[in-house]
Formats: sequence, C-alpha cells, structure tokens
Amino acid sequence: MPQRKRYLFVCVNRRPDGAPKGSCAARGAEQVHAALKSALASHKLAVHEARACTASCLDVCTQGVTILVEPDHKFLGRVTVEDVPAIVEALRNDQLPEHLVLTREQVDQG
Ligand code: FES
Repeated sequence: MPQRKRYLFVCVNRRPDGAPKGSCAARGAEQVHAALKSALASHKLAVHEARACTASCLDVCTQGVTILVEPDHKFLGRVTVEDVPAIVEALRNDQLPEHLVLTREQVDQG
C-alpha cells in the first residue's frame, strides 16, 4: 500500500467508568474512528490521501475525542461523528478543519 499524505490517529483509550479524566472511548471515539474510516473510503481518499488509525491515549484527554493529524502535527479536539463530513471535506481540499484544531494552550492542558 502507498504511504498516505496524512495519518489521523484517533484516540480510542478507555478508562473505567467514573475515572476523573474520562476517556475518548467513553465520548464515542470508536464510533468516530469507524465513521472517519468509512467516509475516507467512500470519498476515495483512503488509498492516497489519509488513513484513519486508532491510538491509545494522546495525553489530551480533557479535549477528547482527540485526533492527532500527522505530518501536520496538529490535534483535533472534541470531535464527534457529526464532525466527520467537515473533516473529510477539509482533507479533500488539502486542509484541516480549522474549527476543530486545538490551540497549543488547549493541548498543554492535557
Ligand atoms: S483518553 Fe484520549 S487523549 Fe487521553
């Protein structure tokens, strides 16, 4: 398989119910990953443009569901299934969905 232009690492970490930090899985990360993977494939972006991968905790738990986009080295935060069309549309235009990109301060909050 060719190397993709971008890799989207969706945190699917799950903590026990009641854990103070919560977790991306508890906020629907597995559904976000599945929807993203499906949308990339249906828009024919999956082979060359972007691959949706799962990841363990990215240490930005307060902003979850969190996605790390490489090689841009940008985090998307508070992502929901409803955001997937905007993410795919941005990638089709070789951009990131700026409204979901976390600031350095948000990332540093952890
Ligand atoms: S649980 Fe997802 S970033 Fe930590």
